[in-house]
Amino acid sequence: MSDNFEQKAKTWDNPMQVELTKRFVERICESIFLYKEDKIAEIGCGTGLVGLQIAPIVEELYMIDNSPSMLNVLREKLSNSNLTNVQIVESEFEETNLNDLSGVISFLTLHHIDYVPEFIDVMKDKLKDNGFIAIGDLISEDGSFHGETKVPYNGFDIEILSTILEQKGFVILRESIYDIIEKNDKKYPVFLIIAQK
Ligand SMILES: C[S@@+](CC[C@H](N)C(=O)[O-])C[C@H]1O[C@@H](n2cnc3c(N)ncnc32)[C@H](O)[C@@H]1O
Repeated sequence: MSDNFEQKAKTWDNPMQVELTKRFVERICESIFLYKEDKIAEIGCGTGLVGLQIAPIVEELYMIDNSPSMLNVLREKLSNSNLTNVQIVESEFEETNLNDLSGVISFLTLHHIDYVPEFIDVMKDKLKDNGFIAIGDLISEDGSFHGETKVPYNGFDIEILSTILEQKGFVILRESIYDIIEKNDKKYPVFLIIAQK
C-alpha cells in the first residue's frame, strides 16, 4: 500500500502542528473526563502529537496509523519515553480487531477516510456501550487546504456530520468550532465533536 505521508513525516512536527494538537487535547480534556481505566484508540495518530499527551492519563492507548513513515517518527519518540501503555498498530483502523474501547480519538484524519458514514459504523462497532468518539477536523473548505492533493472530503459541515452521527445512534455531547488553522493566506476553522454510543 502507498504511504501518503512519506514526504511529510520528517517535518510533520512543526510548531503549528504542535500547537494545534496541544489545543485539541486541551479542548477534549475541558469537555470530558478521561479515566485511568480507559482503553482508548487514536485513529490516524501520525507522529503521536495527540496520543503522547493522552497516554499518561489512561490505561491503554492504541495508536493506529497506516503510514509507516509517520509511525517511524512515533517509534523513535516512544523509544525515548518511559510510557509502557502504548501499542502502535500499523494498519487502517477499519482492519484492526480492536473492540470494547472506552473511546476513539481522531484529529485531522476523518477527511482522509473514503466514506465517512461507513467509517462511523466501524468506530461504533469497536466501542463499548457508552463509549465516546472525539473527532477534530476541518470545517468545509474550498479544497485549497491540501493544495494540488485531492482528499476524500474538503472538510465537513458540522451540522450534517452531527446528524449522521445521531442517525447512527450516537448522542452528541459537545460540538464546537474552537480553533483556526492559518495556511495559504487563508483561515480554516477546526471543529471538535464529542459523541457517545
Ligand atoms: C493529517 S494526518 C494527522 C496526524 C495526527 N493526527 C496529527 O494531527 O498530528 C492524518 C493521518 O491519518 C492517517 N490515516 C489516514 N487514513 C487512515 C486509516 N484509515 N486508518 C489509520 N490511519 C489513517 C494518515 O496516515 C496520517 O498519518
